Amino acid sequence: MQKIEINKTDELDYHTNEAYKSLRTNIQFSGENVKVIAITSCMPNEGKSSVAMNLACSLAEAARRVLYIDADMRKSVLVGRYKMTHANFGLSHFLSGQKSLEEVLAQTNISRLHMIVAGPVPPNPAELLEGKRFGELIKAAREVYDYIIIDTPPVGVIIDSVIVAKQCDGIAMVIAADEVSYKFSQKAKSQLEVAGCRILGAILNKVDLRRNGRYGSRYYNKYYRKYYGSYYGAGTYGKEEE
Ligand SMILES: Nc1ncnc2c1ncn2[C@@H]1O[C@H](COP(=O)(O)OP(=O)(O)O)[C@@H](O)[C@H]1O
Ligand SMILES: [Mg+2]
Repeated sequence: MQKIEINKTDELDYHTNEAYKSLRTNIQFSGENVKVIAITSCMPNEGKSSVAMNLACSLAEAARRVLYIDADMRKSVLVGRYKMTHANFGLSHFLSGQKSLEEVLAQTNISRLHMIVAGPVPPNPAELLEGKRFGELIKAAREVYDYIIIDTPPVGVIIDSVIVAKQCDGIAMVIAADEVSYKFSQKAKSQLEVAGCRILGAILNKVDLRRNGRYGSRYYNKYYRKYYGSYYGAGTYGKEEE
């Protein structure tokens, strides 16, 4: 199995740490049929990857076997953010049939936490996720892990997360305080519900950021435009990376 060294986990203050513990507890009490969980949000930058990673670590700390799958193949930030050593093969290699599951799985230096990194940006992420190999991956992983945490792209911008969510037992929606309108969150929620996905709950993130109402909408517009324009605009994905 490949090995990944994660050199920086988010340093959490006491309250954040407690919040992750209560999130973990809520998930554990959702029942034993809730094992495969997608983390999504309406917009980019709301904290999906941070929440997914901290949740995965928190579950692993509580003696659960956890698989973290980075399914945001268009914009994976993990390697830079967590100063991870490079894994040679990732999800896009597996989904495109170039590598086997054993070849893309990676062991981490965090006990009981395994990972599948995103891999190189494929030209057709949504199509790959819709293919039968993704379903096979989840099925095989269910046999081995207690929890499978899947980081996805934002639901309000791109269809991938709905495709992923269909294979999951539930979705947790990250909502960044003051960044996303109520209406937009509702729209994303109903989009997931219409597709038959079970929403486990919402995680209110970035609550303590010092953004007042005056600037709120300006931030929102800035992020909205930036993301659409740079990452998820039709035909532009994969060409610009951070
Ligand atoms: N609770 C938080 N408080 C402050 N900053 C946060 C919080 N959660 C995430 N961030 C920051 O917000 C940015 C986007 O987070 P990320 O997890 O990459 O979002 P997403 O995966 O939804 O695009 C990162 O710079 C991250 O460090
Ligand atoms: Mg992310």
